[in-house]
Amino acid sequence: MIEPPNDVPGDAARQADSSDSGPDSDDPRLFAPATERNRQPILDVLLRVLPNSGLVLEVASGSGEHALWFAQALHPLVWQPSDPDPASRRSIKGHAADAGPTTLKAPLNLDAGAPDWPIAQADGVVCINMTHIAPWQSAEGLVAGAARILPPGGVLYLYGPYRRGGRHTAPSNAAFDASLRAANPDWGLRDLEAMTELTVSHGLVLSEVVDMPANNLSLVFTRT
Ligand SMILES: C[S@@+](CC[C@H](N)C(=O)[O-])C[C@H]1O[C@@H](n2cnc3c(N)ncnc32)[C@H](O)[C@@H]1O
Repeated sequence: MIEPPNDVPGDAARQADSSDSGPDSDDPRLFAPATERNRQPILDVLLRVLPNSGLVLEVASGSGEHALWFAQALHPLVWQPSDPDPASRRSIKGHAADAGPTTLKAPLNLDAGAPDWPIAQADGVVCINMTHIAPWQSAEGLVAGAARILPPGGVLYLYGPYRRGGRHTAPSNAAFDASLRAANPDWGLRDLEAMTELTVSHGLVLSEVVDMPANNLSLVFTRT
């Protein structure tokens, strides 16, 4: 388990801890406390940049708490969660079952780095806190996949801690980056400029950067 690097509140740090399971061992739901802190600031951006209807694919949904909350808040938009981790997919189903009827679909087994995705089209793609806790190849696959399934004008939304201009934006992010790389040399905070270069090579342009709480960024890319 990766501990937060210092005492600066930062949901990015705690996101590395995967999730805590529920108290009942039969309960498949996982709980990531950071989701309750960051979901409203993220939703405020999503309300502006996502379409009002259609289907949005979420890559790396984790516990599914975001997925359920966004599905409820963004109705009638249909929310398609996904995660390659079976325990996460069970958790997403558990949270959905608890909520009753929603526009939240059953989770897909989707590895961003795979050459083929189990979905052919989406009106938007959202990925929260994955690019730093996965190899760079996953970021490459995410952007390539989003470019394949988005229509012109469709949005790829990323959230997480990123470096800007070759530098960390806060000491807590630098410490978090070091802890990630110590846990796995292929992990680590990505450069905003590298992400942008990658997206341009797949026909997406950076249309907005939003400063978010706890030294995170929202990155909004648009399919040309
Ligand atoms: C830190 S968690 C973030 C979960 C959730 N988005 C959140 O913010 O609470 C990272 C998630 O990325 C997923 N993940 C890791 N590698 C992935 C990949 N190659 N493709 C898709 N998801 C991946 C993990 O299974 C995990 O659920």
